[in-house]
Amino acid sequence: MKNLGILLSGRGSNFEAIAKHVGAGTIPNARLAVVISNQPDAGGLEIAKRLGLDALVISSKGKQREQHDREVVAALQQREVDLVCLAGYLRLLSPWFVQQFPRRILNIHPSLLPAFPGLEAQEQAFAYGVKVTGCTVHFVDEELDHGAIIVQKMVRVLDTDDEHTLAARILEQEHIAYSEAIGIVLADGYEIVGRRLVTKITAG
Ligand code: GRF
Repeated sequence: MKNLGILLSGRGSNFEAIAKHVGAGTIPNARLAVVISNQPDAGGLEIAKRLGLDALVISSKGKQREQHDREVVAALQQREVDLVCLAGYLRLLSPWFVQQFPRRILNIHPSLLPAFPGLEAQEQAFAYGVKVTGCTVHFVDEELDHGAIIVQKMVRVLDTDDEHTLAARILEQEHIAYSEAIGIVLADGYEIVGRRLVTKITAG
């Protein structure tokens, strides 16, 4: 059984989707060991409590990045977390944090990376006028929205869209993509070649 640790700062709909997949057994051999928010009023905390999960606030207010990260990593290690899932976690991780969990931290981003990294990716894509966008689940490395890509899902931009309708369709795909990516990583059936995640070829 692998322990998942969720880090979030807000609404928590990606976390809730992951929790549903774990509950339904579509992410096999996984349990949610802890949900940590840096924001005391994050909606995701309420969801975690309702689901009876271990939910913690580790406030980042007024703390140096690495000092806060050390508290978060200590909480994850205490619970023997194998895989850290950033789910709307609005904090950059320090290089030190990333090094504690090599290829064991995932993030979801609401665009087809490398297009539109950073905040408000759906609005950026809409304003740019792209005809297709989507979402990306990737490993976290020391650069923002940058690590090797695990899963991407495409969403068409319709003439009738505004930023909100587009973001809503992207979010539906996020809820599918994140659990798929967790399943791939936990199954350990891949290797990273350059930046490319490729399925391992097994003999026989
Ligand atoms: C999602 O759009 C995710 O891609 C981005 O932050 C948002 C979090 O939404 N990183 P939620 O808190 O999971 O509902």
